[in-house]
Amino acid sequence: MDITGFALVTGGASGIGNATCRALARAGARGIMVADINLEGAKKAVSEAQDVATNPAFKALAVHLDVTIEESVKHAVAYMVDSFGRMDYCIHCAAIPGGTFDELSSADFADFKHLLEVNVQGTFLVTSNVLAAMRAQELKQLHSTSPERGTTRGCLVNMASLLSYKALPGMVQYVTSKHAVMGISTTAETTAVENVGHDIRVNCVCPSYVDTAMVRRATEVVAGLEQTILSGIPMGRLASAEEIADIALFLCSPMSSYMTGCGLVADGGMSLFFGSR
Ligand SMILES: NC(=O)c1ccc[n+]([C@@H]2O[C@H](COP(=O)([O-])OP(=O)(O)OC[C@H]3O[C@@H](n4cnc5c(N)ncnc54)[C@H](O)[C@@H]3O)[C@@H](O)[C@H]2O)c1
Repeated sequence: MDITGFALVTGGASGIGNATCRALARAGARGIMVADINLEGAKKAVSEAQDVATNPAFKALAVHLDVTIEESVKHAVAYMVDSFGRMDYCIHCAAIPGGTFDELSSADFADFKHLLEVNVQGTFLVTSNVLAAMRAQELKQLHSTSPERGTTRGCLVNMASLLSYKALPGMVQYVTSKHAVMGISTTAETTAVENVGHDIRVNCVCPSYVDTAMVRRATEVVAGLEQTILSGIPMGRLASAEEIADIALFLCSPMSSYMTGCGLVADGGMSLFFGSR
């Protein structure tokens, strides 16, 4: 996989974002910016990525980012471009799960609003500012040995979810927020007419359940959830964060040069069970 550019990873302090930082470093990226509300965690991710980097010129930096604050997103994007000269890839993983898991008739409005603030407004701010920065940078040949694949200014990968397409009980805030992440991402690509003209690809990864702090927190709160989840996954296990990071890297790489505006589902077969009553 030809991953030799510079990447901004939001939510890199934990879970999928964290695994993505290490995967980028291993794959040969020149540089990564780890951006997270948890700055200490982002700094740790930097040193872990440095330990496994294969590009001799590899450089990694950490920056504090709160995706709900416009100035914070603008600062992280500007710091990325100032530090590395360009942003070839952005993998946006920063998000939160629901704080409560109630059915819709008794769902907490404050929790609903907070989730939309982080997951939806955050994705809007990251997508919008990343696209603006990518549009301002020079075109590069997309594939080193296949010039017919055209040129690129950058790739954005948003972490959506299987719940961008489906629903589960007790998760109205999260399901709504992940439908919206897909809406923002596909709009970025119907603006594709705009962005394809600018040679920027925007895609989403749509996992079901991944073995991260986000899921562990939910299984601790909701009795029996872990068994329910596992019984709904034909593969009989959660995804690892590394498996999802690999998909994000594929979507950044020239191997996915003809893909834009897609939501790639990685669910261990779970969606096969949806809708079959
Ligand atoms: N874990 C799963 O099963 C699963 C499934 C489908 C989709 N996803 C999505 O994948 C992405 C990553 O999830 P994860 O499981 O790795 O979660 P995680 O909780 O392990 O990591 C999320 C990261 O986001 C950061 N963050 C939270 N709020 C922030 C804010 N306001 N500003 C900046 N950073 C903030 C956290 O500090 C943390 O480092 C999320 O978009 C999530 O919705 C996860």
